[in-house]
Amino acid sequence: MVNIIMHGCNGAMGQVISSLVERDEEAKIVAGIDLNTEAKNGYPVFASLEDCDVEADVVIDFASAKAVDHLLDYCETRRMPVVLCTTGLSEAQVERVSQVAKETAVLRSANMSLGINLLLKLVKEAAAVLAASGFDMEIVEKHHNQKVDAPSGTALALADSINEAMDHQYHYQYDRSARREKRDPKEIGIQAVRGGSIVGEHDVIFAGQDEVVTFSHTAYSKAIFAKGAVAAAKFLKGKAAGLYDMSDVIG
Ligand SMILES: NC(=O)c1ccc[n+]([C@@H]2O[C@H](COP(=O)([O-])OP(=O)(O)OC[C@H]3O[C@@H](n4cnc5c(N)ncnc54)[C@H](O)[C@@H]3O)[C@@H](O)[C@H]2O)c1
Repeated sequence: MVNIIMHGCNGAMGQVISSLVERDEEAKIVAGIDLNTEAKNGYPVFASLEDCDVEADVVIDFASAKAVDHLLDYCETRRMPVVLCTTGLSEAQVERVSQVAKETAVLRSANMSLGINLLLKLVKEAAAVLAASGFDMEIVEKHHNQKVDAPSGTALALADSINEAMDHQYHYQYDRSARREKRDPKEIGIQAVRGGSIVGEHDVIFAGQDEVVTFSHTAYSKAIFAKGAVAAAKFLKGKAAGLYDMSDVIG
Protein backbone atom coordinates (compact mmCIF):
# COMPACT_ATOMS: atom_id res chain seq x y z
CA MET A 1 0.00 0.00 0.00
CA VAL A 2 1.30 3.45 -0.92
CA ASN A 3 -0.03 6.48 0.99
CA ILE A 4 -0.17 9.54 -1.24
CA ILE A 5 -0.39 13.30 -0.72
CA MET A 6 -2.11 14.71 -3.84
CA HIS A 7 -0.65 18.17 -4.59
CA GLY A 8 -3.21 20.04 -6.73
CA CYS A 9 -5.96 17.63 -5.65
CA ASN A 10 -8.88 19.82 -6.76
CA GLY A 11 -7.60 20.43 -10.29
CA ALA A 12 -8.53 18.44 -13.39
CA MET A 13 -5.74 15.86 -12.96
CA GLY A 14 -6.05 15.75 -9.17
CA GLN A 15 -9.69 14.79 -9.53
CA VAL A 16 -9.05 12.07 -12.14
CA ILE A 17 -6.37 10.57 -9.87
CA SER A 18 -8.68 10.76 -6.85
CA SER A 19 -11.35 8.65 -8.55
CA LEU A 20 -8.78 6.19 -9.94
CA VAL A 21 -7.20 5.65 -6.50
CA GLU A 22 -10.63 5.08 -4.88
CA ARG A 23 -10.80 1.82 -6.91
CA ASP A 24 -7.16 0.82 -6.21
CA GLU A 25 -6.50 -1.48 -3.25
CA GLU A 26 -2.75 -0.79 -3.31
CA ALA A 27 -2.91 3.01 -3.11
CA LYS A 28 -4.62 5.57 -0.90
CA ILE A 29 -4.74 9.36 -0.98
CA VAL A 30 -4.32 10.33 2.67
CA ALA A 31 -4.37 14.11 2.13
CA GLY A 32 -4.74 16.72 -0.60
CA ILE A 33 -3.10 20.12 -1.02
CA ASP A 34 -4.86 22.83 -3.01
CA LEU A 35 -5.53 26.58 -2.92
CA ASN A 36 -9.17 25.50 -3.08
CA THR A 37 -9.54 23.57 0.20
CA GLU A 38 -12.92 21.98 -0.51
CA ALA A 39 -12.79 18.32 0.64
CA LYS A 40 -14.51 16.60 -2.32
CA ASN A 41 -13.12 13.09 -2.01
CA GLY A 42 -13.21 11.99 1.61
CA TYR A 43 -9.60 12.90 2.42
CA PRO A 44 -8.59 16.14 4.22
CA VAL A 45 -7.47 19.05 2.01
CA PHE A 46 -4.93 21.65 3.19
CA ALA A 47 -4.04 25.02 1.69
CA SER A 48 -0.30 24.32 1.94
CA LEU A 49 2.11 21.47 2.59
CA GLU A 50 3.08 23.01 5.95
CA ASP A 51 -0.51 22.79 7.15
CA CYS A 52 -0.62 19.07 6.35
CA ASP A 53 -0.01 16.90 9.43
CA VAL A 54 -0.75 13.55 7.73
CA GLU A 55 2.03 10.96 7.23
CA ALA A 56 2.56 9.77 3.64
CA ASP A 57 5.01 7.81 1.46
CA VAL A 58 4.94 9.90 -1.73
CA VAL A 59 3.64 13.22 -3.10
CA ILE A 60 2.02 13.24 -6.55
CA ASP A 61 2.12 16.74 -8.03
CA PHE A 62 -0.19 18.12 -10.74
CA ALA A 63 -0.56 21.78 -9.72
CA SER A 64 1.24 24.81 -11.10
CA ALA A 65 4.84 25.73 -11.97
CA LYS A 66 4.46 28.60 -9.49
CA ALA A 67 4.01 26.07 -6.69
CA VAL A 68 7.01 23.90 -7.64
CA ASP A 69 9.77 25.82 -5.75
CA HIS A 70 7.93 25.44 -2.50
CA LEU A 71 7.08 21.80 -3.20
CA LEU A 72 10.74 20.99 -3.90
CA ASP A 73 11.92 22.71 -0.68
CA TYR A 74 9.37 20.69 1.28
CA CYS A 75 10.35 17.36 -0.31
CA GLU A 76 14.06 18.05 0.14
CA THR A 77 13.72 18.92 3.84
CA ARG A 78 11.45 15.96 4.64
CA ARG A 79 13.24 13.50 2.30
CA MET A 80 9.81 12.92 0.76
CA PRO A 81 9.69 11.10 -2.61
CA VAL A 82 7.81 13.09 -5.25
CA VAL A 83 6.22 12.32 -8.64
CA LEU A 84 6.58 15.68 -10.36
CA CYS A 85 4.13 16.02 -13.25
CA THR A 86 3.55 19.78 -13.48
CA THR A 87 4.91 21.17 -16.76
CA GLY A 88 6.23 24.59 -17.81
CA LEU A 89 9.13 24.59 -15.30
CA SER A 90 11.84 27.23 -15.75
CA GLU A 91 15.47 26.23 -16.39
CA ALA A 92 16.28 27.19 -12.78
CA GLN A 93 13.50 24.90 -11.54
CA VAL A 94 14.75 22.00 -13.66
CA GLU A 95 18.22 22.59 -12.16
CA ARG A 96 16.71 22.61 -8.67
CA VAL A 97 14.96 19.27 -9.40
CA SER A 98 18.41 17.68 -9.95
CA GLN A 99 19.67 19.16 -6.65
CA VAL A 100 16.68 17.89 -4.68
CA ALA A 101 17.10 14.43 -6.26
CA LYS A 102 20.39 14.16 -4.34
CA GLU A 103 18.38 14.13 -1.11
CA THR A 104 15.21 12.24 -2.07
CA ALA A 105 13.67 10.18 -4.88
CA VAL A 106 12.22 12.41 -7.62
CA LEU A 107 10.42 11.10 -10.70
CA ARG A 108 9.81 13.84 -13.24
CA SER A 109 8.03 13.27 -16.51
CA ALA A 110 6.30 15.73 -18.81
CA ASN A 111 3.99 12.92 -19.90
CA MET A 112 2.97 9.98 -17.75
CA SER A 113 1.34 7.89 -20.52
CA LEU A 114 2.68 4.54 -21.71
CA GLY A 115 2.26 5.53 -25.38
CA ILE A 116 4.29 8.73 -25.18
CA ASN A 117 7.02 7.05 -23.18
CA LEU A 118 7.32 4.41 -25.91
CA LEU A 119 7.26 7.18 -28.54
CA LEU A 120 10.21 8.89 -26.82
CA LYS A 121 12.28 5.79 -27.60
CA LEU A 122 10.92 5.28 -31.14
CA VAL A 123 11.62 8.86 -32.33
CA LYS A 124 15.17 8.57 -31.05
CA GLU A 125 15.71 5.49 -33.23
CA ALA A 126 13.98 7.13 -36.20
CA ALA A 127 16.06 10.30 -35.90
CA ALA A 128 19.31 8.36 -35.87
CA VAL A 129 18.42 6.88 -39.28
CA LEU A 130 16.34 9.60 -40.95
CA ALA A 131 18.04 12.84 -39.83
CA ALA A 132 21.36 11.34 -40.82
CA SER A 133 19.83 10.94 -44.33
CA GLY A 134 18.77 14.59 -44.50
CA PHE A 135 15.17 14.38 -43.25
CA ASP A 136 13.82 17.55 -41.58
CA MET A 137 12.17 17.11 -38.19
CA GLU A 138 9.07 19.01 -37.06
CA ILE A 139 6.78 18.54 -34.07
CA VAL A 140 3.17 19.74 -33.99
CA GLU A 141 1.23 19.55 -30.72
CA LYS A 142 -2.43 20.35 -29.98
CA HIS A 143 -4.05 20.95 -26.59
CA HIS A 144 -7.21 22.36 -24.99
CA ASN A 145 -7.80 26.08 -24.54
CA GLN A 146 -7.10 25.99 -20.77
CA LYS A 147 -3.44 25.02 -21.13
CA VAL A 148 -1.12 27.85 -20.04
CA ASP A 149 2.33 26.64 -21.18
CA ALA A 150 3.40 26.30 -24.81
CA PRO A 151 4.90 24.33 -26.39
CA SER A 152 3.83 21.37 -24.29
CA GLY A 153 6.31 19.70 -21.97
CA THR A 154 5.75 16.54 -24.03
CA ALA A 155 6.72 18.28 -27.30
CA LEU A 156 9.92 19.48 -25.63
CA ALA A 157 10.62 16.00 -24.27
CA LEU A 158 10.17 14.55 -27.80
CA ALA A 159 12.53 17.20 -29.19
CA ASP A 160 15.08 16.46 -26.44
CA SER A 161 14.87 12.76 -27.23
CA ILE A 162 15.56 13.40 -30.93
CA ASN A 163 18.36 15.84 -30.11
CA GLU A 164 19.99 13.29 -27.83
CA ALA A 165 20.17 10.89 -30.78
CA MET A 166 21.81 13.72 -32.77
CA ASP A 167 24.48 14.45 -30.09
CA HIS A 168 22.66 17.69 -29.20
CA GLN A 169 23.65 19.26 -32.53
CA TYR A 170 20.13 20.62 -33.24
CA HIS A 171 18.36 23.73 -31.97
CA TYR A 172 14.63 24.39 -31.51
CA GLN A 173 12.59 26.81 -33.66
CA TYR A 174 9.27 27.87 -32.10
CA ASP A 175 8.09 30.73 -34.30
CA ARG A 176 8.81 31.26 -37.98
CA SER A 177 6.86 34.50 -38.37
CA ALA A 178 9.69 36.73 -37.14
CA ARG A 179 12.19 35.53 -39.76
CA ARG A 180 12.03 35.42 -43.56
CA GLU A 181 14.62 32.73 -43.99
CA LYS A 182 14.70 29.16 -45.13
CA ARG A 183 14.63 26.52 -42.50
CA ASP A 184 18.03 25.60 -41.03
CA PRO A 185 18.75 21.88 -41.64
CA LYS A 186 19.91 21.63 -38.02
CA GLU A 187 16.65 22.78 -36.46
CA ILE A 188 13.68 21.00 -34.93
CA GLY A 189 10.52 23.05 -35.53
CA ILE A 190 7.96 22.95 -32.69
CA GLN A 191 4.45 24.37 -33.20
CA ALA A 192 1.59 24.62 -30.69
CA VAL A 193 -2.15 24.67 -31.45
CA ARG A 194 -4.69 25.52 -28.67
CA GLY A 195 -8.44 24.97 -28.80
CA GLY A 196 -11.55 23.40 -27.34
CA SER A 197 -11.15 20.33 -25.17
CA ILE A 198 -8.32 18.53 -27.05
CA VAL A 199 -6.68 16.34 -24.38
CA GLY A 200 -3.32 16.13 -26.17
CA GLU A 201 -2.06 15.33 -29.68
CA HIS A 202 1.56 15.08 -30.78
CA ASP A 203 2.84 14.52 -34.31
CA VAL A 204 6.55 14.03 -34.92
CA ILE A 205 7.16 14.56 -38.63
CA PHE A 206 10.27 13.36 -40.46
CA ALA A 207 10.11 15.00 -43.90
CA GLY A 208 12.57 13.81 -46.51
CA GLN A 209 12.86 14.13 -50.27
CA ASP A 210 9.66 12.58 -51.67
CA GLU A 211 8.75 10.72 -48.47
CA VAL A 212 7.40 11.62 -45.04
CA VAL A 213 7.29 9.49 -41.90
CA THR A 214 4.92 10.70 -39.14
CA PHE A 215 4.60 9.34 -35.62
CA SER A 216 1.30 10.33 -33.99
CA HIS A 217 0.02 10.01 -30.45
CA THR A 218 -3.48 10.99 -29.36
CA ALA A 219 -4.62 11.15 -25.75
CA TYR A 220 -8.39 10.60 -25.56
CA SER A 221 -8.67 11.17 -21.80
CA LYS A 222 -6.63 12.32 -18.83
CA ALA A 223 -6.94 8.82 -17.35
CA ILE A 224 -3.76 7.73 -19.18
CA PHE A 225 -1.71 10.30 -17.23
CA ALA A 226 -3.42 9.42 -13.94
CA LYS A 227 -2.68 5.70 -14.38
CA GLY A 228 0.99 6.46 -15.04
CA ALA A 229 1.23 8.80 -12.03
CA VAL A 230 -0.21 6.20 -9.63
CA ALA A 231 2.11 3.50 -11.05
CA ALA A 232 5.01 5.94 -10.54
CA ALA A 233 3.99 6.60 -6.92
CA LYS A 234 3.95 2.84 -6.21
CA PHE A 235 7.38 2.52 -7.86
CA LEU A 236 8.86 5.45 -5.92
CA LYS A 237 7.82 4.34 -2.43
CA GLY A 238 10.97 3.48 -0.46
CA LYS A 239 13.32 4.21 -3.41
CA ALA A 240 16.78 5.67 -2.77
CA ALA A 241 17.41 9.34 -3.57
CA GLY A 242 17.89 9.97 -7.28
CA LEU A 243 16.27 11.27 -10.43
CA TYR A 244 13.92 8.77 -12.07
CA ASP A 245 11.66 8.91 -15.12
CA MET A 246 8.82 6.85 -16.57
CA SER A 247 11.23 4.55 -18.41
CA ASP A 248 12.27 3.26 -14.95
CA VAL A 249 8.62 2.42 -14.21
CA ILE A 250 7.67 0.78 -17.51
CA GLY A 251 11.04 -0.90 -18.14
N1 LIG B 1 3.02 15.04 -16.77
C1 LIG B 1 1.84 14.76 -17.33
O1 LIG B 1 1.60 13.64 -17.83
C2 LIG B 1 0.76 15.80 -17.32
C3 LIG B 1 -0.52 15.50 -17.80
C4 LIG B 1 -1.53 16.45 -17.68
C5 LIG B 1 -1.25 17.69 -17.11
N2 LIG B 1 0.03 17.96 -16.69
C6 LIG B 1 0.37 19.22 -16.04
O2 LIG B 1 -0.10 19.18 -14.69
C7 LIG B 1 -0.40 20.52 -14.26
C8 LIG B 1 -1.83 20.55 -13.71
O3 LIG B 1 -2.74 20.21 -14.72
P1 LIG B 1 -4.32 20.27 -14.49
O4 LIG B 1 -4.93 20.08 -15.84
O5 LIG B 1 -4.72 19.37 -13.37
O6 LIG B 1 -4.47 21.81 -14.03
P2 LIG B 1 -5.64 22.50 -13.19
O7 LIG B 1 -5.43 23.96 -13.35
O8 LIG B 1 -6.96 21.90 -13.53
O9 LIG B 1 -5.31 22.09 -11.67
C9 LIG B 1 -4.27 22.64 -10.91
C10 LIG B 1 -4.69 22.62 -9.43
O10 LIG B 1 -3.56 23.05 -8.66
C11 LIG B 1 -4.00 23.99 -7.70
N3 LIG B 1 -2.90 24.90 -7.35
C12 LIG B 1 -2.39 25.92 -8.08
N4 LIG B 1 -1.41 26.55 -7.40
C13 LIG B 1 -1.29 25.89 -6.22
C14 LIG B 1 -0.46 26.07 -5.08
N5 LIG B 1 0.44 27.05 -5.02
N6 LIG B 1 -0.61 25.22 -4.05
C15 LIG B 1 -1.55 24.25 -4.07
N7 LIG B 1 -2.37 24.04 -5.12
C16 LIG B 1 -2.24 24.85 -6.18
C17 LIG B 1 -5.16 24.73 -8.36
O11 LIG B 1 -6.00 25.32 -7.38
C18 LIG B 1 -5.84 23.61 -9.14
O12 LIG B 1 -6.85 22.98 -8.36
C19 LIG B 1 -0.16 21.41 -15.47
O13 LIG B 1 1.15 21.94 -15.39
C20 LIG B 1 -0.27 20.45 -16.64
O14 LIG B 1 0.42 20.89 -17.80
C21 LIG B 1 1.02 17.04 -16.78
